[in-house]
Amino acid sequence: MSATLEKLEQLYEGKAKKVYKTADPERYIVSYKDDATAFNGLKKGTIVGKGAINNRMSNYLMQKLEEAGVPTHFVEELNDRETVVRKVKILPLEVIVRNIAAGSFSKRMGVEEGSALRCPILEFSYKNDDLGDPFINDDYAVALGLATREDLQTVRDYTHKVNEFLKAFFLGLNIELVDFKIEFGKTSDGKIILADEISPDTCRLWDATTHEKLDKDRFRRDMGGVEDAYQEVMRRIFG
Ligand code: TMP
Ligand code: ASP
Repeated sequence: MSATLEKLEQLYEGKAKKVYKTADPERYIVSYKDDATAFNGLKKGTIVGKGAINNRMSNYLMQKLEEAGVPTHFVEELNDRETVVRKVKILPLEVIVRNIAAGSFSKRMGVEEGSALRCPILEFSYKNDDLGDPFINDDYAVALGLATREDLQTVRDYTHKVNEFLKAFFLGLNIELVDFKIEFGKTSDGKIILADEISPDTCRLWDATTHEKLDKDRFRRDMGGVEDAYQEVMRRIFG
């Protein structure tokens, strides 16, 4: 059925994806771009082949997560860059999990990148580009009407499952899942499901032996070898 869906009007263009309406009011089509941005869009570039990699990787991981009991927006991969997804209203929260100190956590807390953490950290940011996605807690989210307590509990439960699944999955590829960001959406019948993407754009992935970075930090930090890093993760997943 959904195999016949085609892109209609473009609804939205984000930094890394475009979203289109389809003839089915409960389905959207997302189209992944090679565009890369960092620092709230201040730094712009292209990572050749990224759109296809992120599309395929994200779809694969979402299908695995469904099997592990986390509902997701994934419906059907149409081609290299395009996927049919369930229509959701995205909760304006970036849900971040940290297993190892890195990035903004290291900077904010003065903890060296790569330091062990005694437990995984789940944190929220308010998805708002004008404000630079500020760090918030549960009370902020509820007080501002971004989510209810029940929504946040569901998001936490699913997020812990996602972390446990992804950590083990990547470790099986000799990759450490340092941290990642996910987003959730609400379907028209009010269910919270995992949406957006899971890719080297949204995860920090380090080779478990060499600690080489295999993710978007290579772009953010002008380290070179960006395309090779994305392809290396693909190679380890799909052979
Ligand atoms: P951070 O250390 O910069 O806060 O990033 C934490 C994780 O979230 C890291 O895996 C990269 C990811 N991330 C995004 O996917 N989008 C963003 O806009 C930011 C700031 C981080
Ligand atoms: N993509 C985000 C931006 O441009 C940030 C990032 O991933 O570093 O703001």
